Amino acid sequence: MKNNIFLIGTHWGDEGKGKVVDVLSENASACVRFQGGHNAGHTLVINDKKFVLHLIPSGILRDSVKSIIGNGVVVSIDALIKEINELTINKILLHDKLFISQNCHLILPTHIALDKARELSLGKKSIGTTGRGIGPCYEDKVSRKGIRFLDLQNVDIFQKKLAQLMEFHNFILKEYYKEEPIDVSFVRDDILSKYKKISSFIINTDEYINQLCKSGGVVFEGAQGTMLDVDHGTYPYVTSSNTTLSGVISGTGINMGLINYGLGITKAYSTRVGHGPFPSELNNEQGERIGKIGGEVGATTGRTRRCGWLDLKVLKKAIQINNLSGIALTKIDVLDHFNKISICTNYGSINYETFEVEDLEFITLPGWESSTVGITDFDSLPKNAKTYIETIEKFTDTPIDIISTGPARDEIIQKKNILDD
Ligand code: GDP
Ligand code: IMO
Ligand code: MG
Repeated sequence: MKNNIFLIGTHWGDEGKGKVVDVLSENASACVRFQGGHNAGHTLVINDKKFVLHLIPSGILRDSVKSIIGNGVVVSIDALIKEINELTINKILLHDKLFISQNCHLILPTHIALDKARELSLGKKSIGTTGRGIGPCYEDKVSRKGIRFLDLQNVDIFQKKLAQLMEFHNFILKEYYKEEPIDVSFVRDDILSKYKKISSFIINTDEYINQLCKSGGVVFEGAQGTMLDVDHGTYPYVTSSNTTLSGVISGTGINMGLINYGLGITKAYSTRVGHGPFPSELNNEQGERIGKIGGEVGATTGRTRRCGWLDLKVLKKAIQINNLSGIALTKIDVLDHFNKISICTNYGSINYETFEVEDLEFITLPGWESSTVGITDFDSLPKNAKTYIETIEKFTDTPIDIISTGPARDEIIQKKNILDD
């Protein structure tokens, strides 16, 4: 039987999760999202064509893979329909392939307005959210007043809940943030009409996911990264869900005993989009150069990503709290152009007012200054690239089982077949 595996970003997101999930999906039975929402932007490059997925799992481009949105994901119906339409235009059929949990909470237009209004009012102290309503939606989930797909099965209950919730949202929007309220009846009619287009995808996913895992080959796809976890990340500069291992379980209802392998997705250098501390950040020309070569522009908001050297302290933490079995190191080709490459190995406390960091420690290795683009076997890598990889393995005591050498599907070294071994 094939392994069931989970993939989690080890840093602040955008590590290349979408690309690795797409590669592994070739031999998978299903691909499951368990948290986050359309704040995610997962990029896949297939035959020179770029696909950016926000809500739908990155296995969707494989015909035989079931794609499941688990209960832990918050769903904007508009974003979902947009993505379904884009896939349909590209002749990717979703019937009997896409399944969405009836327990997913809905992101309402007022959640988005509240997210934006709050960010505006925070000024310099803002989080730098994606403005997708993620935080306010999870707040309503936790305070037990959110609206789930399940509620839409009874129009009367839905209308009542929506009116109550939006009355509360509009009060805050109007009285606290001095923003325009949003019309409840418009939102109600809009959701009810759009729901008809997607209702056939809604099921009880936890039973289905457990059943699929019993046959093996299920890939759980994380969104964001470990340091954006609401409990373990750089709080308050985080997203509003558990992006770590606990999210896999709470966001799907999977029996943890059925999961065999955890893969950390680590970019060969570190990036962050949005505000908050970033100890190994290169606030200089070198950081800009990494960003330029790496094309570090946000797949969701188009913002420029902050760049720095690989943060090993964070990687070690990610390995520990996610119980990772191995690492997929991505974008190694971006470092082809540097004659010296540093790695941040440790630091002391972080000041959350100034973001200053005490006692930063780095090691510097020689670069390889030759192309690794598209290499598919480990032995063909330049010697210094191998040393870079082995140094990370030594520091973290964790194997790098996969190395990504370009954005395209076939630009990958799989040292181990993690779905089968
Ligand atoms: P995700 O959110 O973790 O799925 O990552 P994103 O898609 O937001 O960002 C990763 C970016 O790097 C995308 O533009 C990918 O196409 C690209 N990418 C992924 N792996 C590689 C790689 O090995 N080399 C290069 N050069 N680009 C890569
Ligand atoms: P993927 O899945 C990178 C960041 C935002 C902000 C913080 C909170 O593509 O890796 P939110 O809108 O979630 O309330 O914003 O989290 N953020 C991401 N950064 N990649 C992502 O997703 C992100 N999703 C959210 O920039 O700093
Ligand atoms: Mg991304």
